Amino acid sequence: MAEKEIKTIAVLTSGGDAPGMNAAIRAVVRKALSNGMKVYGIEKGYQGLLNGEIHEMTSKDVSDSIQKGGTILRTARSEEFGTDEGKAKGAKILKDLGIDAVVVIGGDGSYKGALGLSKHGIAVVGLPGTIDLDIACTDYTIGFDTAVNTAMEAIDKVRDTSSSHERCSIIEVMGRGAGYIALWCGVASGAEEILLPENYDFDEQRIINHIIQARKIGKTHFLIVNAEGIGHSTSMARRIEAATGMETRATILGYMQRGGSPTCKDRFYATIMGAYAADLLKQGKTNRVVCHMNGDFCDYDIDEALAMKKTVPEYWVEIARAMSR
Ligand code: F6P
Repeated sequence: MAEKEIKTIAVLTSGGDAPGMNAAIRAVVRKALSNGMKVYGIEKGYQGLLNGEIHEMTSKDVSDSIQKGGTILRTARSEEFGTDEGKAKGAKILKDLGIDAVVVIGGDGSYKGALGLSKHGIAVVGLPGTIDLDIACTDYTIGFDTAVNTAMEAIDKVRDTSSSHERCSIIEVMGRGAGYIALWCGVASGAEEILLPENYDFDEQRIINHIIQARKIGKTHFLIVNAEGIGHSTSMARRIEAATGMETRATILGYMQRGGSPTCKDRFYATIMGAYAADLLKQGKTNRVVCHMNGDFCDYDIDEALAMKKTVPEYWVEIARAMSR
């Protein structure tokens, strides 16, 4: 906990953008202003910090943003900030502007950057902003809800054409090394196979047998949702077509999953989290990450949060398998 009163804060978005980040920025700015603090926006993440792309923000600056996808502060990944010198330089730039604290909206890589700033005397609070849901300390991350709904709608569309042509379709969804997006939209779209990096055994023969079996019981199309962490959907499609004789196509959804207007849930949760971050700083708390766990919003120490491990619940996987038989 910081003893010193925090009067001036900054907010940045880092790593991949996620729908709902604007709602979080807006909430940080407006709650901090109503707490009597001065607020700065840092453009383009940690790289923008090092470039001095920092400006004061008013309530008006975040008007008309809650419904927009992407991030109005823009984002970047910075190699320079990854170094000790980069972090020291960033902290000095903040101190020279009289900024006591930074709210970092991003994934757990961004929290590591925040910890670096805190070692140089800047108070920090992290907000979980990623479509991947791969942050262990929270069961909700800003952008996941919009991304899975976008992916689900896209999969429904592929299903229409796949079914009309009696094809097998492999649809690859984002998620980096995590399978949450694949699991959620795979279950929600009734996929016959959902391939997750957390438990994939590379047994393509089992998938081929499943397709052959499904055709025997009268299924005329077959949907496979494959996670980005497994990848290789195009070559997988070629092998499955050769082994089953069923026309097989791969569709890689890609960046469209990261865009679009955020869902109500992403706007609401991001608003609560952004305001919560401003309140933590008002109370002089630092090195915290705002989370959602067991039905409520809460906060953890960043070091503690980074040490936590997350995995896809085995029971969910079992249910997903039962649904696809
Ligand atoms: O972390 C969000 C995410 O979209 C991942 O799902 C994906 O692996 C990655 O970012 C892509 O990152 P980039 O924008 O650097 O290509």
